[in-house]
Amino acid sequence: MIDARTELYGIIGNPVRHSLSPLLHNRAFRRMGVNALYLAFEVIDLKDALRGIKGLGIRGVSVTIPFKTEVVSLLDEVEETARKIGAVNTILNREGRLIGYNTDWHGAMEALEQRVNLSGKKVLLLGAGGAARAIGFGLREKGSQVVIVNRSTDKAKKLAEELGFVYQPWLSVGTLDPEVIINATSVGMYPDDQESPFPKEILREGMTVMDIVYRPLRTRLLQEAKEKDCLTIDGLEMLARQGARQFEIWTGKRPDVKKIKENLYEALRNEAMGTS
Ligand code: ATR
Repeated sequence: MIDARTELYGIIGNPVRHSLSPLLHNRAFRRMGVNALYLAFEVIDLKDALRGIKGLGIRGVSVTIPFKTEVVSLLDEVEETARKIGAVNTILNREGRLIGYNTDWHGAMEALEQRVNLSGKKVLLLGAGGAARAIGFGLREKGSQVVIVNRSTDKAKKLAEELGFVYQPWLSVGTLDPEVIINATSVGMYPDDQESPFPKEILREGMTVMDIVYRPLRTRLLQEAKEKDCLTIDGLEMLARQGARQFEIWTGKRPDVKKIKENLYEALRNEAMGTS
């Protein structure tokens, strides 16, 4: 029931029309009896949007492409981890002060740690963009041994130096023997879903393979990993868990991750069948 007490939340980004966050949060609000609504705002000017959030008393927003980095310097306060990562994906409006957080790294670490103990593990991290930065930071906290590989080697080098990891050229991927592989690039994302970031020959039975891409849910990389009897973690795991953490920051309530995942799987299934 939307009434005069309903509190407003949302996502700011551009584009945002394909975001699953409104579904994720609105279902959780309803399930948990929170009188709140979450909308998608396709933002043109970030500073204007932030002023609007304050002016209208919007309680919190998710931040997505292309604003996660730019927003860091525009907030009243940024939580330490988000500052170190250099990216904010969650803003809390606390009595008119905008406070930035990063829940992407929690989401990724929780998704991985359901399946594998990361401490001391040899991890191949593909990518050096915003998502890879958040995941790399988490892996350092967990004490993993990480090799970063990225299409632009200079970005891999920079991130590896910052985190105390090593980097290698993309073409040398076949020479590595990791226990965990994480694709934090957009390779394999619809409509280029016939692509995989590397040849399947490097996949071995028992490896853990996580993909952050969730359109499609079964990326070529994850299909090939399944064929080789690897443990696979799909992109919805991270999405669901970063969202659950946002919800907790905003409301102080911990939502049911299993239910969030069910809603997201259903939404993607409907998309695939053209019924949404
Ligand atoms: P995000 O915030 O989702 O991480 P991003 O910061 O734009 O987005 O990063 C995208 C990542 O995917 C980068 O690592 C990018 O590689 P570059 O740094 O070389 O640009 C990687 N990526 C995107 N398209 C790619 C492609 N076709 N082949 C290989 N890597 C690709």
